Amino acid sequence: MTLSQFDSSSIKVILSSHFQHAMEAAGIPTECSPHIAPSKKAGFGDYQANGAMAAAKKMGQKPREIAQLIIDKLDINHIAEKLEIAGPGFINIHLRNDWLAQQLVHFCQNPTALLKTQHPQTIVVDYSAPNLAKEMHVGHLRSTIIGDALVRLLELQGHSVIRQNHVGDWGTQFGMLLVELENHLQGGEQADLALKDLESFYQQSKKHFDESEAFANKARDYVVKLQSGDETMLELWHAFRDTSLTHSQEIYQKLNVTLTPDDVRGESAYNDDLSILVDELKDKGLAVEDQGATLVFLEELADKDGNPSPVIIQKQGGGYLYATSDLAALRYRANTLKADRLLYFIDARQSLHMQQVFAVARKAQFINNTISLEHHAFGTMMGSDGKPFKTRTGGTIKLADLLDEAIERAEKLVRERSESKGIQLSEDEYKTIGRKVGIGAIKYADLSKTRTNDYIFNWETMLSFEGNTAPYLQYAYTRIQSIFRKAEITPQQISGELVISHADEKSLAIRLLQSVEIIEQISNDAYPHLLCNYLYDVASLYMRFYESCPILKEGVSEAEKNSRLQLCDATATLLKMGLEILGIDVMEKM
Ligand code: ARG
Repeated sequence: MTLSQFDSSSIKVILSSHFQHAMEAAGIPTECSPHIAPSKKAGFGDYQANGAMAAAKKMGQKPREIAQLIIDKLDINHIAEKLEIAGPGFINIHLRNDWLAQQLVHFCQNPTALLKTQHPQTIVVDYSAPNLAKEMHVGHLRSTIIGDALVRLLELQGHSVIRQNHVGDWGTQFGMLLVELENHLQGGEQADLALKDLESFYQQSKKHFDESEAFANKARDYVVKLQSGDETMLELWHAFRDTSLTHSQEIYQKLNVTLTPDDVRGESAYNDDLSILVDELKDKGLAVEDQGATLVFLEELADKDGNPSPVIIQKQGGGYLYATSDLAALRYRANTLKADRLLYFIDARQSLHMQQVFAVARKAQFINNTISLEHHAFGTMMGSDGKPFKTRTGGTIKLADLLDEAIERAEKLVRERSESKGIQLSEDEYKTIGRKVGIGAIKYADLSKTRTNDYIFNWETMLSFEGNTAPYLQYAYTRIQSIFRKAEITPQQISGELVISHADEKSLAIRLLQSVEIIEQISNDAYPHLLCNYLYDVASLYMRFYESCPILKEGVSEAEKNSRLQLCDATATLLKMGLEILGIDVMEKM
């Protein structure tokens, strides 16, 4: 068989399309789907088609007979070596080794080509979004890394992705921060020095605000001035904002997150649109005045007693709220950025807020009906006591400190491991590997949990070289690299055919090709843990293959060696690609 016959799709899509044709030819109503899925149990083939039962029911016929009708019309001898009807009417599909080998070879020549979507969209992703008044803390980790994984995955599929870092850079707390900053500057200090530790700067200004009437009054005055565009206030505000953004940018770099300063479009960006927006909602009869405030009442989100859900869009006294700027942001993204999908990665505690914003936007027809609005919520990161993760004294943990600790721990671990194995690496190598392993461990521990659940943060498990962890996968990758070093060959130099003969080679090949299906699924549901589980499975199947199919042992023929090296390379390519989607680096040695 030649490569030109390569089917450029996932196994599932290829089988589905063949089955669909066969079903049509067999006179089965076109709305019946073949329901192709990987078989769950060994002995039931590699894939199954489970659609015969539903089709038979619809047609008032016997399922096994319908299954037979489908099989009679199928033309997939080049893909499947055997089809069998099982149980009430499942069709078990046993794939051909030569077809799988050819699919895999083709896939490896250009792994991303197969992942490309047929329907590229404009997708706006809202993630990270810290409040700039304070330093980034552990509470910002999840949005930042889950959002970034999705962004990378969607870009890999060929979507046009627009990152939006909706930072909190506006609002009343800036009054006290600007007074505090002004005092520091008047004392001769430079802004970046004064703001070096944003957390204590915030605490300090809060203290002054609480203790001094004069300070508090000035702070309130400054907010009003800032919001009316006073030059001096804006200058101070810019100084504060720039410094705070620089802090965040350092974290993104350390975390290997793709956000750049260009992706920042914070609450302040929508300031000019807020009064217009409120007026429009009033004109449309959606917003009403209530005790001096302006609200929208949503029947569609009524509580169980039938009371509509209130959304305040303007406070008594004229101030705007979180929901107001989110509405303005939403319509900017829909109408100016022309998003087809809008993804929000925000804590589950803001679910009601997001539901309200979506409902008001739809009701006011700020956006067209076809746009998909998606809040992908996540749970909280907990300490070992099962409570939200805090320092020993109950303070918030700065993200910068957490990352430094991860790197430090990882470096120590890598050093001990390699010394115990008698391997000596250079200082630079320890540093680089420590950083990759430490950051990888933190990210993977988070991304591998079902995002909607809370999870318990634990250094020991995340840094373990056993189990479903980043170090395990990174190590699996380096082991493959070391095989190539031992064989004194590069993947590009391998010649000869990929031949799948052992059952463990076959399982590995099938699993590798399933990456396409997994990535497609995650692009819809935004659950990165599915990718983690998948990569862990790939690494485990690889280990099994490695145990049962020797590569560099004596007695292994040259052809067999070259074929197996191709499977090694395919595994490494997949692991690297998967970890890259998660924003985790691999390395040649560790
Ligand atoms: N700054 C907010 C917070 O720290 C998160 C913003 C999320 N994005 C949004 N469009 N509301 O809670």
